[in-house]
Amino acid sequence: MQLIMLGPPGAGKGTQAELLEKKLKVCKLSTGDMLRAAVKAGTEIGKQADAVMKAGQLVSDDIMIRLIRERIANIDCANGFILDGFPRTIAQAEALDVMLASMKKPLSLVIELTVNDEILVERIAGRFSCAKCGAGYHDTFKPTKAAGICDVCGSKEFTRRKDDTRETVKSRLEAYHAQTAPLLPYYQAKGILRSVDGMAEIGDVTLEINKVLESTSK
Ligand code: AP5
Ligand code: MG
Repeated sequence: MQLIMLGPPGAGKGTQAELLEKKLKVCKLSTGDMLRAAVKAGTEIGKQADAVMKAGQLVSDDIMIRLIRERIANIDCANGFILDGFPRTIAQAEALDVMLASMKKPLSLVIELTVNDEILVERIAGRFSCAKCGAGYHDTFKPTKAAGICDVCGSKEFTRRKDDTRETVKSRLEAYHAQTAPLLPYYQAKGILRSVDGMAEIGDVTLEINKVLESTSK
């Protein structure tokens, strides 16, 4: 299965992709995570991306297409993949189409998570993740089961993203509406776009996504 998770910052793409990765046994490619790892490692791409991400703008199509092209053909993606955060522009979507055509792996589905802009700031301001295994949490909506201890790996160290400030969220939302939202009609025209209410509780969003997956695999 080749799946894209689409939606504005804070819509729940990463949260749902993490759950789907386990269910579908496919690889999850999160371009945001890949860029943050590059920044941390101090690679050339990381150096170029750091300031752009802090400003809430999009990293260049050239860099992003190169990153995905290098990963998507890996053996761990042989069963398929979930793309979280890619494509984000029409140019990226067109480049992905070319890559997948040459791999003879057409896109199965694009799942859009619809969420009002107002709630996104709250979601992003409360987000944190485990510094060791990367599991994602939220102060209010998804706290750890035991205070201060990661549910998944037991680590006591957590981290917050540098771009999760109220000011940066505004720029990220503007970038989404101007550059990424045009992907909705692009995939609608291909007949593979399905919208899911991302305002519901995390577990209910997962149930809705599972229903969409079941109905399209029939
Ligand atoms: P990226 O890391 O992709 O960030 P984003 O798109 O802004 O999305 P987020 O990760 O903020 O939100 P999400 O939808 O994953 O939400 P989450 O599940 O965490 O990209 C970061 C930057 O990298 C970009 O700004 C850009 O600069 C660059 N970049 C990346 N890809 C690029 C590309 N292709 N081209 C160019 N530049 C690129 O959920 C948010 C919070 O809410 C969590 O705390 C979660 O627990 C909680 N939550 C989730 N679902 C629910 C729910 N249903 N109810 C209540 N709370 C919920
Ligand atoms: Mg994310």
